[in-house]
Amino acid sequence: MHSGITQVNSQKYSIRTFAIGACILSLACSSPEPAAQQQPASSHSVTDAAFGSTASGEDVRLYTLTNSKGEEAKITNYGGIIVSLEVPDREGNLGDVMLGYDSVDDYIKDTPYFGALIGRYGNRIAKGKFTLDGNAYELAVNDGPNALHGGLKGFDKVVWSAEPLAGEESAGLVLSYVSQDGEEGYPGTLSVKVTYRWTNDSEIRIDYEATTDKPTVLNLTNHAYFNLKDGGASSILDHALMIQADGFTPIDETLIPTGEIRPVEGTPFDFRQATAIGARIGDDNEQLKFGLGYDHNFVLNRTGDGLVLAARVSEPTTGRVLEALTTEPGIQLYTGNFLDGHLVGKGGTAYAHRSAFCLETQHFPNSPNQPDFPSTALLPGETYRTTTVYRFTAM
Ligand code: BGC
Repeated sequence: MHSGITQVNSQKYSIRTFAIGACILSLACSSPEPAAQQQPASSHSVTDAAFGSTASGEDVRLYTLTNSKGEEAKITNYGGIIVSLEVPDREGNLGDVMLGYDSVDDYIKDTPYFGALIGRYGNRIAKGKFTLDGNAYELAVNDGPNALHGGLKGFDKVVWSAEPLAGEESAGLVLSYVSQDGEEGYPGTLSVKVTYRWTNDSEIRIDYEATTDKPTVLNLTNHAYFNLKDGGASSILDHALMIQADGFTPIDETLIPTGEIRPVEGTPFDFRQATAIGARIGDDNEQLKFGLGYDHNFVLNRTGDGLVLAARVSEPTTGRVLEALTTEPGIQLYTGNFLDGHLVGKGGTAYAHRSAFCLETQHFPNSPNQPDFPSTALLPGETYRTTTVYRFTAM
């Protein structure tokens, strides 16, 4: 059974849903909406606009979630991508902290998963093979010898059904997708629902839910690339990072965990005290060589199944702080090692080497082939539920 099958219930996040159409929550709607469909008395809102279409002609929308402080989160139903997040620095100046593109065409053309939903399996499965219940499955190999992030057409490349969601303390968006039995080689028809909430406390909360009609494996995440200083115009090496992890899962040269859980103590992977990301990234260390920097799963310190603070990142010049909380057992720190300046993103910014960091909350890579890792199996009758929150403040 999937060890992330857990329900996080919190009064703070209780929500009311509304039957809503294309732009019902929009203050910019051109036609007046019937009173019964209007949003509750609060200043947060959801609007949507055209964002282009896919090669097969599917309509893609861009949703703007505005919280009561006027901060905007933009999310598209193509890949469930978080396109931008506007958060204040210590002076209150809003800035976009996400790498991404201005148009869906750019996301379709070439993206290292900027801001996208990842599924069915976040990170790698060795050689694209696993066995479940005595059946062998074979996935497309799309990263050296391994399968990465759901395959050739993972959840980051499909168009999701989207419904705006009005809550008392957030503006939200519910994304749904049914992945067919055998899609990208994975067994079982999988119904997935991802709820994004942009709260009045500047948190992006992501609730993942899924059911299957056959035993399968599942490891959903979001692949946000953050740069708290300027959204990707400069390096993240001066950002200070804390990860609440006593251990990490070392990798081989193809970035597959060896199965060991190694203590971080005395290694460049010890982020238990906040340390600049760049302080030890160039150390003479085999693991850093295999990852070309940090590209590793950390084993989070936790006692129960609930939301725990996994990581905190602060940026010294702007004072922006990001906290990642999750119900998951692991988090992948990836320091933009494969960015090389050839991708030109929002506003014409060329994304250079290490101009972003990712903190992908997850079960451990290659768990289907590692019986000692927390299980990623999902069985019929079970409901997969995980939650991750990225919370922004300034200091
Ligand atoms: C992986 C990296 C990969 C990046 C973008 C991360 O989750 O661990 O190796 O380059 O995603 O695909």
